[in-house]
Amino acid sequence: MAPLLEGEPPHDQVLFATRLQRYWSDLLTGLTGAYPDHAPEMAYRVVEIAAQNFQQRPADLRLLDLRRHADPQWFQHPRMLGYATYADLFAGDLKGVADQVDYLAELGVTYLHLMPLLKPRPGQSDGGYAIMDYRAVRPDLGSIDDLRELATVLRSRGISLTLDLVLNHVATEHQWAVNARAGDPFYRQYFHMFADRELPDAYERTLPEVFPDFAPGNFSYDEESASWIWTTFNTWQWDLNWHNPDIFYEFADLILWLANLGVECLRLDAIAFIYKRMGTNCQNQPEVHAITQALRAVARMAAPALIFKAEAIVGPSDLAPYLGVGKHAGKVSDMAYQNSLMVQIWSALAAKDTRLFCAALNRFPAKPPTTVWGTYLRCHDDIGWAIDDGDAASVGLNGFEHRRFLADYYAGVYPMSDARGLVFQENLATGDRRISGTAASLAGIEAALNSGDDAHLDLAIRRYLLAYTLILGYGGLPLIYMGDELGLVNYYDFVEDPDHADDNRWVHRPPMPWDLVDRRHLEGTVEHRIWHSLRHAIAVRSALPSLDASVESEILDPVNPAVLVFQRRYQTQTMVGVYNMTTESQKLPRWVIPLGNWAWDALTEQTPLTDGPLTLDGYQVRWFVQQT
Ligand code: GLC
Repeated sequence: MAPLLEGEPPHDQVLFATRLQRYWSDLLTGLTGAYPDHAPEMAYRVVEIAAQNFQQRPADLRLLDLRRHADPQWFQHPRMLGYATYADLFAGDLKGVADQVDYLAELGVTYLHLMPLLKPRPGQSDGGYAIMDYRAVRPDLGSIDDLRELATVLRSRGISLTLDLVLNHVATEHQWAVNARAGDPFYRQYFHMFADRELPDAYERTLPEVFPDFAPGNFSYDEESASWIWTTFNTWQWDLNWHNPDIFYEFADLILWLANLGVECLRLDAIAFIYKRMGTNCQNQPEVHAITQALRAVARMAAPALIFKAEAIVGPSDLAPYLGVGKHAGKVSDMAYQNSLMVQIWSALAAKDTRLFCAALNRFPAKPPTTVWGTYLRCHDDIGWAIDDGDAASVGLNGFEHRRFLADYYAGVYPMSDARGLVFQENLATGDRRISGTAASLAGIEAALNSGDDAHLDLAIRRYLLAYTLILGYGGLPLIYMGDELGLVNYYDFVEDPDHADDNRWVHRPPMPWDLVDRRHLEGTVEHRIWHSLRHAIAVRSALPSLDASVESEILDPVNPAVLVFQRRYQTQTMVGVYNMTTESQKLPRWVIPLGNWAWDALTEQTPLTDGPLTLDGYQVRWFVQQT
């Protein structure tokens, strides 16, 4: 250890050695899972990378490591609240974000995901997910120093900064790609490059298309290198070759460098796609989890305050492994998007029926207690109707028909639907139609505002608040998408920007209208009603131990399929959340709620649990709690 950490204070050397001992086997087994022929030599090299970055870790972040060590489940506390936004759309630039920290604090935010801000390629960049330099900030947003400064300001206010780690691909303008295109054999190994169509065609037989509309196929021809390049997303996003140990070293170092700037959580973008295997859909391969485990082990050695969030928007049976099942339990990502929950909420609201929701969510294995679900209603991406055919069949539905119904409903073409979504990437081969649109527009608020009908608006707002309260009450780390705290509707002006016009996901990525923001304190406005209702639920939530994310929500049989009932049993408190997913008033037998008559509704502070049946108004929520 001494040569590795020369000059470090003795207690830091001991600390690093202890972590090395603790995480060595996670590192080695992870590497063995993905690089069986190189694992031992890779492990030694990776430890050197960890040691170098540990030496560069600033004192305040080493202190943060110790604080996290004293409270390792910090990200599970009910006071945790996430917010996701683009720095420029929210506040102009990184300095502007620092200036708006009071606004975030007023909402109760403790975790801020700033959408891609590392230097992207010029022009179209998939919202910044086509990076040409991981070690520079997009120039109009600021500099690396501004980023470090912002992370420090946020940390001083108890807000953890999350950034994207785009690890499946780089922009064609990235130096690695430039070198590869110029024929450098070392860098050609960084990518999947093929001299002819033979292998690409063989892979294509089992590959789905992510952007069938504007980037069909998974390979693009590059004139300069006369090769077919693997490009899962756009032609200008080149997939990295994670079979190559050099890519692992690059990212191990990058992760720790970002952590040393003060980034506390990395969102592992498109993680499902990084490892390719002939004859499969090249998603969710076992090596993905082995690689994540090894990356996490390195991070724990040098910067243990850092956590990982998996962005794996995959089917229910593939999702659980991202939080770790079997040998990877608790050793991969600390958090993962609960995509099924999101889809099932929209599905239950459209169908006014919760049976499919219960069947789908009941099938999830228990997550490791050290991990959390990121619960969300909307994010910057489209919604894909990830309804499993088997789940649908188990409640008497046809999966294909139900997906079609949801696409019609949220595109607003289904009779009586007041949703105002846009169809994204219609796939004529599979019939899939994904949907763009803000949560408020999908929940009917836009249509109601346009109709000028107050009763309709009231109903749509209640539906919206129910959905968000479910996100807050499900257990997990709730992630609010920018503007949803005010109920922002679709932003149709996105078409004015030529770099955005053909990607309608920009309809739900509006700039923050600060004039509307001020209306949150103006009684009688939509913004006031939504802000205060959400703020109230957030405040109530933060004081409820039963909403600690280590606890699983158990789905109880609601008897009445219009309603969802979840039970959360924490050592000191049990909570039963009851959600009426329909417009109409609903009744539930009293016995459905396994609590005594002294349970109270934490949202209203009333004690309504009597012996008779429970009545719920349309879209009403109750959070019954009882000390145990
Ligand atoms: C992730 C991002 C999405 C992007 C894709 C490719 O899924 O959320 O916006 O298009 O990765 O980077």
